[in-house]
Amino acid sequence: MKKVLGYTNAWSVTPGETIRVMVSTYGPERYRADLVRVICGDDEPDRDIYREEEIEAPFSGEYPGRTQPIGAGSYAVVPDSPSLAGLESFTVQAWVWPTTPGKGEQGLITRWRDDPAGGFALLIDDSGALAMRVGDGRGGVVEIGTGEPLAARRWYLVSGSYDAAAKELSVRQDPIMSPLESLKAADATREVELSAIADVGAPLMFAAFPATLSTGKAAAQRHYNGKIDRPRLIGRALSAAEGLAVAWDAMPHERNTQVVAAWDFSRDIGGDAISDSGPNGLHGRTVNVPSRGCKGHNWSGAEQNWRHLPQEYGAIHFHDDDLYDAGWEADFEYAVPNDLRSGVYAVRLRADDDEWYVTFFVRPPRGTTTSKLAFLASTATYMAYANYHWMMHERYCEATESFWTTLDKGDVFLQEHNEFGLSTYDTHSDGSGVRYASRLRPVLNMAPKTPLWSFNPDTHILGWLEEKGIEYDVITDEDLHHEGVGLLDSYRAVLTGTHPEYYTTPMLDGLRAYLARRGRLIYLGGNGFIWRCAFSPEMPGMLELRRAEDGIRYRDEEPGEYYLEFTGEFGGLWRRLGMAPQALVGVGTVAVGFDVSGYYRRQEASFDPRAGFIFEGIGADEAIGDFGILGGGASGSEIDAVNPMLGTPSHALVVASSEGHSANTYLVPDETGFHHCAMDGAQNPDIRADMTFFETPGGGAVFSVGSIAWGASLPHNGFDNNVARISENVVRRFLDDTPFPMPG
Ligand SMILES: [Fe+2]
Repeated sequence: MKKVLGYTNAWSVTPGETIRVMVSTYGPERYRADLVRVICGDDEPDRDIYREEEIEAPFSGEYPGRTQPIGAGSYAVVPDSPSLAGLESFTVQAWVWPTTPGKGEQGLITRWRDDPAGGFALLIDDSGALAMRVGDGRGGVVEIGTGEPLAARRWYLVSGSYDAAAKELSVRQDPIMSPLESLKAADATREVELSAIADVGAPLMFAAFPATLSTGKAAAQRHYNGKIDRPRLIGRALSAAEGLAVAWDAMPHERNTQVVAAWDFSRDIGGDAISDSGPNGLHGRTVNVPSRGCKGHNWSGAEQNWRHLPQEYGAIHFHDDDLYDAGWEADFEYAVPNDLRSGVYAVRLRADDDEWYVTFFVRPPRGTTTSKLAFLASTATYMAYANYHWMMHERYCEATESFWTTLDKGDVFLQEHNEFGLSTYDTHSDGSGVRYASRLRPVLNMAPKTPLWSFNPDTHILGWLEEKGIEYDVITDEDLHHEGVGLLDSYRAVLTGTHPEYYTTPMLDGLRAYLARRGRLIYLGGNGFIWRCAFSPEMPGMLELRRAEDGIRYRDEEPGEYYLEFTGEFGGLWRRLGMAPQALVGVGTVAVGFDVSGYYRRQEASFDPRAGFIFEGIGADEAIGDFGILGGGASGSEIDAVNPMLGTPSHALVVASSEGHSANTYLVPDETGFHHCAMDGAQNPDIRADMTFFETPGGGAVFSVGSIAWGASLPHNGFDNNVARISENVVRRFLDDTPFPMPG
């Protein structure tokens, strides 16, 4: 069992900066913290390649342990105000699209205190029906429900009102009628025997009830799953007809002077603000990044882009398992010294018989480089995969992986701690796809000694660089996103990890500009440069992804919601956006398969003098990479090939191609518009990785292996093998200042 975990406020750190380290223990009363440099994180004992280097640090030592809670689940909150405190008779209403109405009590619009119970709450009750609850703050509680369960994924106008003069409490749910089905409207009214509804002095909350964490921090509970659109608060008990008139009015406060608040969630899309368009300015904030830019109750289908018709995208989709910032208190800080070399580092935490590595990346001092080579850590991809539960959420997992599902300690921990949040490979508890992933929480698969996917196999490449004495700086996707080509320009060559899958537009622009000048890119991975993602400009460390239309994906994106809220850009595959990876690195994904990896054979073009440096020391007929840690070969997991139609440069040399792919290696959906009986690696010659080289007009060059498994072949035979040799040949030539001439 995991007994200690932690995270830092930043993944990329510059010497001179200070990072905060947040730690939580699960059982142990003490833990020890030390600094290590991560060299190779693969700790399989048979391979004997694990390497870390302990570094002296002022924080090294023993610390008291404590369990720090996480309040997951999104909601929105409006601070208390005199306009809320002064309410006597009132109506609350909203358009809602519940996704789990049968999941138990869920707060829709609440201004409530549990103990002693007081305030009001419009909610979904245990029967799945709409209900309104009021309390006098002295233990007296009255509730009325419609008794008619709400249907999932259907729009309703819901309202609750209190008439102080008549002492009546009413609740009402009106479905938006479909021509194809008959959902029931329902309402109920009852007398309220309480002397008054308590003014609990609490904030107003959407999509949850208030709660307090064990640390005393305000949080939420009894979360609502689903959408809320145009919630309103009116200072009078409205009749059904009056309620409808207000609800369908985009600017109700202009026609009804008793409107206290008319929230408009179509404003502020992409951020955490919510705005009240009414007269009292009851603005608020969302917590834990619910999804925005979502179709509202009035969506007509006339537009797919929320920016073009925001008034039809006024819904926020809340989930009870959303998470942005775990919000732990820092245990200690670390001022990164100016002379700490650039690299991958971790705070090693040890408690009882357990340990954890809080991993971060130290780049060179800003504006400088300390090596000619930069390793570009795929932190956007690490984030997209953060804390994935895919093997538990995806029912075809074993069929696609060709393996029995196995769970390590971290996976088991996540099953028991849903509050650590999800990855963009998962589904929310309401079945909708996860669009956001944060690094402000412990990420149980971004550390050494974790399974060989995403982060940890990239350390095979670091281990190889160290073994060969090749100096490198470490920079990250987030740095590239913020600084663009300026980050890369001073490097003679840039080296990717095994799987640089997720790219923001500024990241892609930065790489393209680097190559357009004189840059040299060594792509030692597969399935790279595939999906457009976005970083939030307002919420640091938050990534957004909408898996529109195509590609290997684990769920369908909600139709009509393909545009990213952080940037307004159309989401999906870069290939579908007209910027296929082939137009950047020569190759792009064609197939995936996880049981058996293949190996490369030299092609005719490898004997072209332009490619001579690549194959120094390599025989003409050698199988290249018929060994390796992932599937026993260098070409596997996810593999890429050339395609001139998608932009492979006309002078690119395919110097080697792979063979030996199994019947469990399949074409990716983006490659096939029609299923047929020859979609697997045993039958289809298009299923291959193309090792590709081309020069650029600025004297630069690109070398691509197009395989995730390549890096895992580097350590074979003490890093002495033809995969390692080819990689070293390429790196050494790419670091040589001599320009690459374009072929005549
Ligand atoms: Fe991937």
